[in-house]
Amino acid sequence: MGKLWQKDYTLDSLMEDFTVSNDYILDQQLVIADALASIAHARGLHLIGLLSDEELSSLEQGLSQVIKLRTDDSFPITKENEDCHTAIEAYLTDLVGEAGKKIHTGRSRNDQVQTALRLWMREYAVKLCNLTGQLAERLVDFAEEHASVPMPGRTHMQLAMPSSVGLWAASFAEELYDEAQHLMQLSWTLDQSPLGSAASYGVPIPLDRQFTAEQMGFTRVQNNVLYANNSRGKFEAMLLDSCDYIALTLSKLAQDLILFTLPEFGYFSLPKQLCTGSSIMPQKKNPDGLELARSRSALVSSASMRVKSIIRSLPSGYNRDFQDTKEPLLCGTKATWQLVHIFLRMLDGLEVHPEALEKACTSELYATDVVLKQVLEGKNFRDTYKEVGLHLDALAKFDPHKALEERTSLGTTGNLGLDEDKFFISLMRNGCEDILKSFSEAYHNLCGIEDVQTVLY
Ligand code: ARG
Repeated sequence: MGKLWQKDYTLDSLMEDFTVSNDYILDQQLVIADALASIAHARGLHLIGLLSDEELSSLEQGLSQVIKLRTDDSFPITKENEDCHTAIEAYLTDLVGEAGKKIHTGRSRNDQVQTALRLWMREYAVKLCNLTGQLAERLVDFAEEHASVPMPGRTHMQLAMPSSVGLWAASFAEELYDEAQHLMQLSWTLDQSPLGSAASYGVPIPLDRQFTAEQMGFTRVQNNVLYANNSRGKFEAMLLDSCDYIALTLSKLAQDLILFTLPEFGYFSLPKQLCTGSSIMPQKKNPDGLELARSRSALVSSASMRVKSIIRSLPSGYNRDFQDTKEPLLCGTKATWQLVHIFLRMLDGLEVHPEALEKACTSELYATDVVLKQVLEGKNFRDTYKEVGLHLDALAKFDPHKALEERTSLGTTGNLGLDEDKFFISLMRNGCEDILKSFSEAYHNLCGIEDVQTVLY
């Protein structure tokens, strides 16, 4: 079978290369989602009498077969197919004959690709939320383990105030938690079914869009059929923006680690299995992974920009330009997924050097503490500030541990509030697990296979 739209001519081969590009390769990622959505669509056609019981059953079997093949990495899509939608229809027609030719009734590849992408993005968002929650949890554990290890607090990179490894690590945990929450909120936006919107304007067939949405485990239908198509690229950009916040935080964490693992600082050291060497300088132990974390973060950000640039000037309705949003979506999401994993690995092997950290807490770090002590004894702040500032050389050495304990307000070194962090992170992670279970149940009801996932990593 050639292209779905092929009639009485063959597409110019240069134009074929140009229009298909690498889309048929990228589409491997959407095969399972597309097959699941196709089962839901076939059930919808059966519901309104457009497919017989036998036709539905043979299509369901064929589509479950597609899912199994793809899970084993052996469902082929060729350039001549153009995309996974054509490859799947061709496979079904070969396998079950006439019924295969009926599956496209009332749908267009436009709502078909939208539905496959929606299923994929919905699952990815919840999975990344869960994974980011796992990293936040790991950081809270790290913070707890090293809560009483002093660390210089810096502003403008200069020594500022006494701080702790616990405060430093938990700051990243809370930041990542908020970013994971952002994904959770986005997953609600993604949780609407575009199926039945067809080419962009619906069809004169009474498709039960609510029914097919429920079959796929969506909580609702994306109501307006034109918007259902116009949201292509927009939802991708939203997801990539959420990824970008996580990647941005990890880039900053990478930067801190690059700095604080320098021998000149020596606060932490990285496991050597996660560092690389130099081809000429035998002494080198380079943090390439952390450096690439910074650049990957920039690439994730640019993926979102690429998608927005593509869709910015498009007129309403489907336009082929949308196809080019798939690559930045898949690259940006994969990079973010890898980034979070890399940091989980980093934290497992990150060594803390309390002596070096304590040694770095020199007396100037306590200048403000000295002022505030005198204020508590009754002096006014500004005069004391000036006096201490003019006699910095006279600052006595402080006990850094005492300085940490003396900070008792919520969220400070003596009262990090880690139990609260743990509570909210685990609440969020449990929510993710429940949602993922509900997806898996819906998929099982569609294809009869356990543990089907649309995101294959
Ligand atoms: N590969 C195409 C895409 O991602 C599928 C939809 C094609 N639709 C069309 N009207 N040419 O957008």
